[in-house]
Amino acid sequence: MEFKEVIGNRRSIRFFEPDKPVEREKIQTMLEASRLASCAVNAHWAKAIVIERDKLPEDKLEQLKTPVTALNVELAPVHIYWYADLGVVNRIEGSRLRELVDVGALAPTHGWTHKFVDEFVYPQILRPMTEGPGYAVAAAADCGIAMCQALLTAFDEGLGACFSAFNSNIAKEVFNVPNDWVPLYVLLVGYPAESPAAGGQRPRPPFEEQYYDGAFGTPFQRDEAVVERLKQANMIQQPATPGNQERMDEIKRLAERLGLPM
Ligand SMILES: Cc1cc2nc3c(=O)[nH]c(=O)nc-3n(C[C@H](O)[C@H](O)[C@H](O)COP(=O)(O)O)c2cc1C
Repeated sequence: MEFKEVIGNRRSIRFFEPDKPVEREKIQTMLEASRLASCAVNAHWAKAIVIERDKLPEDKLEQLKTPVTALNVELAPVHIYWYADLGVVNRIEGSRLRELVDVGALAPTHGWTHKFVDEFVYPQILRPMTEGPGYAVAAAADCGIAMCQALLTAFDEGLGACFSAFNSNIAKEVFNVPNDWVPLYVLLVGYPAESPAAGGQRPRPPFEEQYYDGAFGTPFQRDEAVVERLKQANMIQQPATPGNQERMDEIKRLAERLGLPM
């Protein structure tokens, strides 16, 4: 699938084929995509634990649910629990930056040497950063990038997926999660039971409300010719509309087939 089409086709899928197994190689492909994500100082905070739903004890599955995710968690055959490993920076002490220096990704033209990493970047920027109040937020933002690559890859592989909140206390106990891993979200994965369009692209705030040109207050003007080109490329697709009868009928059919309450 073309890159723009993958972006356009993605929806948060909440109706999965509950009994259709997901090939392990597709899960690996998602993780491979995640591992290749760009990452601040090449630290790679993002960690994931892959769980096959049916291998979870019934009571633990129940306890992992939250009020906003219960059915998603139950229907998805594979769960990928994501964490930010906050301990990584002080474990690796700049070694992954030195690797970037060694392969010429960080070049001496830009001031990068082992000495710069060892005597300045790690002790004066990175280590203090781990003690600052914004550290977890920075690490989580970084993980989001890796998580998104896994998410998009799921759709490229013909799967459906949705990020969800989860009960992190239970997960910590059941999955043996290290103490310095901060829980983020679970990526629920499976074959979609809903149609690929799933009612259309979900509502978004206006473009000009989100993006600014030069400074806050001057909206970045949306060029309709670009919008048209992205429609042709299937990145911008038919929007979901309130009360769409076709979608309501689809939900009814799914509820009947999967035995869900309406
Ligand atoms: C980090 C993150 C967490 C989310 N958590 C939940 C959740 O707990 N439950 C849920 O039903 N959807 C969850 N979602 C899905 C969003 O609600 C979704 O993005 C929204 O429905 C917009 O639609 P779309 O993803 O289909 O474009 C989450 C999405 C993200 C990116």
